[in-house]
Amino acid sequence: MSRIAYVNGRYVPHRDGYVHIEDRGYQFADGCYEVVAISGDTFVDAGLHLKRLRRSLDALKIAFPMTDAALTVVMRELARRNMIREGFVYLQITRGVAPRDFAFPAKVKPSLVMTARTKTLIDPRLLSDGIKVITIPDIRWGRPDIKSVALLPNALGKEQAKQAGAVEAWQFDRDGNVTEGTSSNAWIVTKACEVVTRKANTDILNGVTRLGLLHVIAEAGLRFVERPFSVAEAKSAPEALQTSSTNFVLSVVRIDDTPIGDGKPGPVGQKLAKLYADYAASGAQDRT
Ligand SMILES: Cc1ncc(COP(=O)(O)O)c(C=O)c1O
Repeated sequence: MSRIAYVNGRYVPHRDGYVHIEDRGYQFADGCYEVVAISGDTFVDAGLHLKRLRRSLDALKIAFPMTDAALTVVMRELARRNMIREGFVYLQITRGVAPRDFAFPAKVKPSLVMTARTKTLIDPRLLSDGIKVITIPDIRWGRPDIKSVALLPNALGKEQAKQAGAVEAWQFDRDGNVTEGTSSNAWIVTKACEVVTRKANTDILNGVTRLGLLHVIAEAGLRFVERPFSVAEAKSAPEALQTSSTNFVLSVVRIDDTPIGDGKPGPVGQKLAKLYADYAASGAQDRT
């Protein structure tokens, strides 16, 4: 079966999906995106993704190309045409095509591209073994809360992790506090069994999985604290976790060369991974 993409109003074979060379996304990374997990018939927390997309577009002063309802129809149709049962849809909106000039063009139509892909969201091996992360300085721009397509620092960090045999790079700020992974939010579990993650201000992306997990934590009656934590604190924590739409909840069992806890996924992480997987599959999470 050949893959189908959605490009500016048309469903096209994936290999024929093109945007123009003067698309501002290509020239200036002038756009934003979302990655929405597909679990069976459910787009996991689609409402929160569309809300965040609207927030990113507003921040960049890019017009929203269609209503949430219309966007949802395209997402569903793309998932159907690509026969995705487990995977994700990728949505990208850029300011559009215009002669190259930094300032915004007076008249421009946003470009909307969507692709969909099958992917194992709950990888049994990653769940049972946990993952290794490295730590790197956060060199991104000042607004990582906007889900912009300007992802070069993230790509460099992920490549550095890969070269080190790790799955992710956790970034840290000037105070030595962890901000987030290159494509995930970072968490620790303390000795007092508090689940800790950084407050979502302009320093990090407010992950949709992060928000879903907060809901799951509250439902499970676990204690949750939003505060910064340092790399050193993470290394000495009994458990560490990360969340993202493409891998849900994963236990971090090694940070740089330090094993976390006994170097295996801990009970809180395993419980949260299971509860979040149930939550994602339930289709009941359509919160906005
Ligand atoms: C920098 C960053 N932080 C966190 C996340 C996790 O966000 P979400 O849970 O919405 O996938 C991502 C996902 O791509 C990301 O790129």
